[in-house]
Amino acid sequence: THQWRGIIEEYRDRLPVSDTTPVVTLREGGTPLVPAQVLSERTGCEVHLKVEGANPTGSFKDRGMTMAISKAKEEGAKAVICASTGNTSASAAAYAVRAGMVSAVLVPQGKIALGKMGQALVHGAKILQVDGNFDDCLTLARSLSENYPVALVNSVNPVRIEGQKTAAFEIVDMLGDAPDIHVLPVGNAGNITAYWKGYQEYAADGISTHTPRMWGFQASGSAPIVRGEVVKDPSTIATAIRIGNPASWSNALAARDESGGAIDEVTDREILRAYRLLAAQEGVFVEPASAASVAGLLKAAEQGRVDPGQRIVCTVTGNGLKDPDWAVAGAPQPVTVPVDAATAAERLGLA
Ligand code: F0G
Repeated sequence: THQWRGIIEEYRDRLPVSDTTPVVTLREGGTPLVPAQVLSERTGCEVHLKVEGANPTGSFKDRGMTMAISKAKEEGAKAVICASTGNTSASAAAYAVRAGMVSAVLVPQGKIALGKMGQALVHGAKILQVDGNFDDCLTLARSLSENYPVALVNSVNPVRIEGQKTAAFEIVDMLGDAPDIHVLPVGNAGNITAYWKGYQEYAADGISTHTPRMWGFQASGSAPIVRGEVVKDPSTIATAIRIGNPASWSNALAARDESGGAIDEVTDREILRAYRLLAAQEGVFVEPASAASVAGLLKAAEQGRVDPGQRIVCTVTGNGLKDPDWAVAGAPQPVTVPVDAATAAERLGLA
């Protein structure tokens, strides 16, 4: 009876739903806000991780998808479509199953993590691998939704942003006020838009005393907002944020400027360093794109741009199990032993 009910029921009065909206939910949201001990020590700040990989399909996309699929169902849609670097498609496929709808997903050929592909497949999505990048997939998905009977559930659909803003509500509800800085990875820029909206709404209603500065980080090879121009051939090992022309570009700039924040870049090397630190020293296993937030915080701290004593939240957006290749790569192969305690003890360094 005390189970978290999902973001629509928990925040119904702050979302564009009515009593007749059919709520399609996997009880997303209510994710852990975990104090980060090592990051706090390194920065001299109070750092928390908002662990969005704990959502039902393993990423923050579920917050937006419960809204998008519920509204699509309310409007009578029988099929939904999205472009995706993997997580949106996994989420759309799962929620479409719950709604009794067909899902179609367009992904960049060869550039999505295996776990995410497996999710779309097992949930029965119709998958097309597009000979192009995410930006091409989104162009195609938009065109199909305009010309065929299929509803678009990318974050260009404003109800996605409404759902995703609830993560900011949860943080303020937990901490008792907004943090001083909020750090997150930026790809298509929907999530930074959503958090900023959520923080602004709570501040406007006096639930928080202030809004945080929004710090977004793109991968260096896919950093159009930092460069100020479209990146034609984006590259990064963080495939989730391999995006060269973000749909919510102008909203990301507004979040940055209105909050007194920043949008900067981190290299793949910095991303992987943060990825390993999170797993090995905080006990939190995220996918590479998610580590861009933490990589950005560490970079800013090393550059002396983080004043000590602040309260900082880093969103880690997706579960490490989605893309385990990076956990295994470069790690030593486990040794094989016979069923023999003495040998096992010796190999474990116990004897
Ligand atoms: N982190 C992860 C794990 C993601 O999957 C994404 C986006 C982001 C960060 C960036 O969020 O796009 O709102 O700025 N993934 C999308 C997808 C593009 O298709 O799953 P954003």
